[in-house]
Amino acid sequence: MSAQSEHSRRITIATLREMKRNEKRFVCLTAYDTAFARILDQAGVDLILVGDSLGMVVQGHETTIPVTMDDMVYHCSLAARGASRAMLVADMPFLSYATPDQALSNAARLMQQGGAQMVKLEGGDAQQDVVKHLSGNGVPVCAHIGLKPQSIHKMGAYRVQGRQKHAAESMLYDAEILQKAGADMLLLECVPMKLAQEIVRNVDVPVIGIGAGPYCDAQILVLHDVLGITPGQVPKFSQNFMQQADSIADAIAAYVQAVREGSFPAPQHCFD
Ligand code: KIV
Repeated sequence: MSAQSEHSRRITIATLREMKRNEKRFVCLTAYDTAFARILDQAGVDLILVGDSLGMVVQGHETTIPVTMDDMVYHCSLAARGASRAMLVADMPFLSYATPDQALSNAARLMQQGGAQMVKLEGGDAQQDVVKHLSGNGVPVCAHIGLKPQSIHKMGAYRVQGRQKHAAESMLYDAEILQKAGADMLLLECVPMKLAQEIVRNVDVPVIGIGAGPYCDAQILVLHDVLGITPGQVPKFSQNFMQQADSIADAIAAYVQAVREGSFPAPQHCFD
C-alpha cells in the first residue's frame, strides 16, 4: 500500500484497537458540520465525535438536555460529508436510549441517515441491557462514563467523578460490565488520572479521555474550546490551541501533534 493510500485509508474500530495494542495514541475531536469535519479530517484527527455538546456550543443552550434526535441526525449527516478518513461517532441525546428498542431505532437513524460508524451513550451498569441490544444488532457502541453531562440535573454541578473509594470502585465495575455487554470503546470524562489508568489497564477496548489524564489510549476535546471561541470559563482540562497558531488548520494540527507525542494533556490539565 502506498504512503498516500495508507494515509487516506478510513479509520475503523479495528484500526483503533490495533493502535491501542501498539500503544499508539489516537486523536479525537468534536465537529458538527462539513467544513470543520473536513479540516479535522485533513489535519489527521482519527475520530470525529458529533457530540451533543452541540446543544451548548452551536445552539447556545446551557446544557445538552434540549438536543433532539433530529438535531443529532442533521449535524451528523453534515459532518459525514467532511470526514473521509476519520471514524465518525455520534452521540445519542438525552432520553433517546431509555429502552433497548428505543435505543436501537434511534441508533439506526444515526447510522443510516447520519452516516455514523458508532454511537455514544452516557452509561453505567444501568445501561448494560441497552448496550447488549445495540451490540447484538451490529451497532458499535462507545460508553461514556465518569462525568455524564446529560445527568447534570441529577448531579447539580459539573464535578470530577470517582474521587471517593466507593465511586472509584463503582466506575471500575461500570467499565468492566459495559465492555462485557459489548461496548467497543469507553470514554472517561473528568476522572482522576490514576483511576483512569486503572480502568485503561482493566479493559481491552480503547479508552478515550477528556479530563482523564495522560494514560488514556486517546484524547478528545470540544472543538470550540480548542479554537478559543467558547464564551466564558473553559474547563481546566482543555487548551486553546489557537493562541500559538496562524490558522484554524494549524491549531488543529498542533493539537493532533501534542496528543500523539504525549505533550497534551500536561499536568495542569489533569485531576488527582
Ligand atoms: O458531547 C460531547 O462533545 C462529548 C465530549 C465532551 C466528549 O461528549
